[in-house]
Amino acid sequence: MKVDVLLGLQWGDEGKGKVVDVLTPAYDVVARFQGGPNAGHTLEFDGKKYVLRSIPSGIFQDNTINIIGNGVVLDPVLFMEEAKALEASGVDIKGKLKLSKKAHLILPTHRLLDAANEKAKAAGKIGTTGKGIGPTYTDKISRNGLRLGDTLHNFEAKYAAARDRHLAMLEAMGEKPEIAELEAKWLDAINYLKEFDIIDSEHAINHALKDGKKVLCEGAQGTMLDIDFGSYPFVTSSNTITAGACVGLGVAPSRIGDVYGIFKAYCTRVGSGPFPTELFDETGKTIRAIGHEYGAVTGRERRCGWIDLVALKYAIMLNGVTKLIMMKSDVLDGFDEIKACVAYKINGETVTEFPYSIEEETIEPVYVTIPGWKTQMTEAKTYDELPQAFKNYVDFLEKELETPIAIVSVGPDRTQTIVR
Ligand code: GDP
Ligand code: IMO
Ligand code: MG
Repeated sequence: MKVDVLLGLQWGDEGKGKVVDVLTPAYDVVARFQGGPNAGHTLEFDGKKYVLRSIPSGIFQDNTINIIGNGVVLDPVLFMEEAKALEASGVDIKGKLKLSKKAHLILPTHRLLDAANEKAKAAGKIGTTGKGIGPTYTDKISRNGLRLGDTLHNFEAKYAAARDRHLAMLEAMGEKPEIAELEAKWLDAINYLKEFDIIDSEHAINHALKDGKKVLCEGAQGTMLDIDFGSYPFVTSSNTITAGACVGLGVAPSRIGDVYGIFKAYCTRVGSGPFPTELFDETGKTIRAIGHEYGAVTGRERRCGWIDLVALKYAIMLNGVTKLIMMKSDVLDGFDEIKACVAYKINGETVTEFPYSIEEETIEPVYVTIPGWKTQMTEAKTYDELPQAFKNYVDFLEKELETPIAIVSVGPDRTQTIVR
């Protein structure tokens, strides 16, 4: 069997959680392969809303095993909060969730280092989620990290060495934090973590594939936040693209099947960094208001703009997307016209291939204007019911992106999903 991958093509928050939840009944295993609690994946069904940070979005469907893969960084305290909330709402989390021994742990001092790094960058700050993601991946790459598997033997000494190293780094940055309370909470959460099945997840996934099981890999963040191909340095610290699923789960490239690329019918970004199609006017504010564009976890305002097809084509290329999924189509229901960026003008030159730099000062988006549909689509159940002007937008996008749009989403609820 092959694994299918579902990931974001923009700057995150495309609606990955919702679609993973919708697709899960067709899968035996759902696995997260990178990122950590910087993610906030929202699911809505039966009048309830859930936000998942580290736990895969397949957790609400019966009979599906969920895996937190080796490529993920895990904060035990946030994990415990999330898992206990799910347990309280009746999810058999301990029965359905497995964690990789090779996933790296986020220490309390990683979060403090994240904050100190941001403070040191001052005006050049990345606008991270403050969850310690960068420092944890830094420790992983520099071979100083602690992994879940470490909790099983002689853990306290390994932890103390890492903590002391971090405290020395913080001191060199002028920070002298009091961590006793944070540490006690964290060690308590480590004990909770040990109640879970901590496994060699690369073996489990490959056994599942051999047994003919269907596996869905759930991406976090989005392609434009990829550490290699995103708008560096305003990116996250992991590979968010399809290749990340191979290294983040131990799945061979030849095992990749369908790649579902998710995008919003427009575009958003949180944190700092360039965003060529950002709208600073009333239209941007309207999109934010109608789309409720505020961070799922942090509540931060998301910056809003028109869809950027130059960046989307780049994302499709990097990920090998086989099927596109368009989210939040309903947010544009009231607009007279919609714009799509088809090229950038950089120093007077028209560029259609995503360039090395997309710094705002030198870049000007070239737009085409598409008539709006001015029809509320949130109640639609089939593609046939949707207005012709919307279908024209879909046709236009498919032609530009040379990839089929397999699903359109017309609202946050599970049921507001139209498979073509
Ligand atoms: P993720 O990080 O990619 O899982 O996305 P988030 O959960 O951070 O953000 C997506 C937001 O849009 C959430 O509040 C969802 O409930 C909401 N959402 C998802 N799909 C749709 C849609 O088609 N229409 C509308 N109006 N909201 C949607
Ligand atoms: P989901 O999975 C949107 C952004 C942060 C910041 C940058 C680096 O919900 O789509 P980090 O804390 O990762 O070091 O922050 O990346 N960012 C996200 N933006 N959605 C996310 O996740 C994000 N995860 C990180 O805002 O600009
Ligand atoms: Mg999100």
